[in-house]
Amino acid sequence: MAAVRRRLTDLELDALVVTAPENTRYLSGFSGTLGYLVISGEGAEILGDSRYWLQMEAEAPGFTLVRSVASSGLLALLADHLKRLGPRRVGFESQHLTVDQHRRLGGSLTADVALVPTAGLVEELRMLKTPHEVELLRQVAGIASRAFDRVRSAIRPGLRERDIAFLLEQTFRELGADGPAFDTIVAAGERGALPHGRAGDRELARGDMVVVDFGALAGGYNSDTTRTIVVGEPTLEQTRVIDAVRQAQTESMALMRPGVTADAVDRRAHDVLAGEAHAFGHGLGHGIGLMVHERPFLSPSDQTPLQAGMVITNEPGIYRPGWGGVRLEEMVLVTEAGPQVLTPASHEVRVG
Ligand code: GLY
Ligand code: MN
Ligand code: MN
Repeated sequence: MAAVRRRLTDLELDALVVTAPENTRYLSGFSGTLGYLVISGEGAEILGDSRYWLQMEAEAPGFTLVRSVASSGLLALLADHLKRLGPRRVGFESQHLTVDQHRRLGGSLTADVALVPTAGLVEELRMLKTPHEVELLRQVAGIASRAFDRVRSAIRPGLRERDIAFLLEQTFRELGADGPAFDTIVAAGERGALPHGRAGDRELARGDMVVVDFGALAGGYNSDTTRTIVVGEPTLEQTRVIDAVRQAQTESMALMRPGVTADAVDRRAHDVLAGEAHAFGHGLGHGIGLMVHERPFLSPSDQTPLQAGMVITNEPGIYRPGWGGVRLEEMVLVTEAGPQVLTPASHEVRVG
């Protein structure tokens, strides 16, 4: 909150309206899906409807609850609240508030109130994880890894992709997670060439290489890990391609240190795989926390210098249409002492 208030001063804003659920949760603790924050130099209010009043009082004790009385909607309550507060320059989250909401809010305020777009103000703060957040990420990554290791031993020919996804998601919950972080990806054989191939009806056959990309969600924090396995004995070519992807991961991960820019890490992985046909077309990784994909992004367009306390995925891949794909993904904590992997799931390729 102190950091948000410093940004308000820098941007000459009298107040900031926070509407993105992850940002609301990050700043207030409120974990429901609908609640707005209004933050000013002194004030901190949370606006909600009756479904959430008790939860807001319990989870966001640092905020004054402003209750919506009728079913007129939260936006009308926000406009009324701002009229009472009387700020002149009000920041809003331009990457989240819809055009329609902006139009309605603006129409309810007097002409001397300026709605000022802010982009990524809270997201920038979220890039650096607190020790508590790191602990939550380590826990959820540990749950997912243990689930994978358990399910891995049950993988055999005849099982469908969707069976593996179901077993994983069930095991996440058994181990204490709230559910999956995203639709589990299980892409067998030639389907491995689809970087985001959802688990479908395809049955696993001996010799299939299978990309399994899985994440759990617990306490609001997400994990994200990928393993590529082979049902039975891997061929020489499967082994060679997996080794190439691992080499790209090892070399690029070594650069995940404070001061190295995100794009430089991405470039290294792409350079290592430059000689491979169908090397990956996507960025090397992404920050992860309250959202699966958040800043910084290991991609050519992100020059953010890495800092100790960031948690970022590293996920190079090779995707060959008609043949299959390989991706390996770890969650990495950037520390002064170097990269620390948070995802201990088994790396053994052969299953069944
Ligand atoms: N599972 C989505 C991703 O790896 O980004
Ligand atoms: Mn993933
Ligand atoms: Mn990822």
